[in-house]
Amino acid sequence: MPHDATSDRNLPRARQLLAGASHVLVLTGAGVSAESGVPTFRGETGLWRNYKPEDLATPQAFARDPVLVWEWYAWRRGRLAECQPNAAHFSLARWMASRGGVTLVTQNVDGLHHRATRTVSAEVGRALPDPITLHGSIVHDRCTRCDYRAPARAWEGAPPRCPTCAALLRPDVVWFGEVLPVDQLANAARAATAAEVCLVVGTSGVVYPAAGLAYQARSTGAILVVVDPGPTALDPDAEMLLRGPAGVILPQLLT
Ligand code: OAD
Repeated sequence: MPHDATSDRNLPRARQLLAGASHVLVLTGAGVSAESGVPTFRGETGLWRNYKPEDLATPQAFARDPVLVWEWYAWRRGRLAECQPNAAHFSLARWMASRGGVTLVTQNVDGLHHRATRTVSAEVGRALPDPITLHGSIVHDRCTRCDYRAPARAWEGAPPRCPTCAALLRPDVVWFGEVLPVDQLANAARAATAAEVCLVVGTSGVVYPAAGLAYQARSTGAILVVVDPGPTALDPDAEMLLRGPAGVILPQLLT
């Protein structure tokens, strides 16, 4: 995918901004995993073009038809099993290992940031902080009744049940209409307030409260830099747009 020439002009300035910032908030969305083969949600090839969120990603949909919802998540897990973190995940993780003061907040449930972080932690011989995950994890299950939460296990036939209390399990993701994990959101909001630069990568910027973090950072003095090959809702408020795929731009930006 070609990237915009303005990106090349903006890159040195963006690098300088990041180098001079003691706190950086990085907010990522589905686009950061697009080059890994994980489908995004919006746009021509996005999941919401062929599926309706209200049929598959709400508590009401799960209560109505848990089999349908589980089939969709099983399909997504199957796709994800073939995907690996890409150059964008790795350059972010390596950059974070090379400096302090960066908080990575993701809307993604695919676990690819975690996987890159673990690989880089092993490379550098120390544990790097896990990203803040606002929308949960598709590679974990949790119980609809008790506190059980665990890495997802393969299942066949009827939807899986809790090994502790036998209630239905569900994917450990945040559905539309549900509250985001309170601690994660509070930590993300703190990082937004402290940020001198807010680097937004691969999100359409239309889902709240995640998108609101960028505005919060900006309203408390951060410079907003957007990396995306297409237009986003945050563009009008961005000081700098770096147009192009994250897997191309981030390795050049985060050096
Ligand atoms: P979207 O699908 O709304 O937006 C994806 C963004 O990634 C778009 O702006 C694309 O232009 C951009 N993009 C595509 N390819 C890219 C690439 N190679 N590099 C960088 N950017 C690229 O996904 P999100 O904004 O993450 O919520 O969606 C937000 C939330 O809506 C998701 O977390 C999910 C969804 O419904 C829940 O499931 C609760």
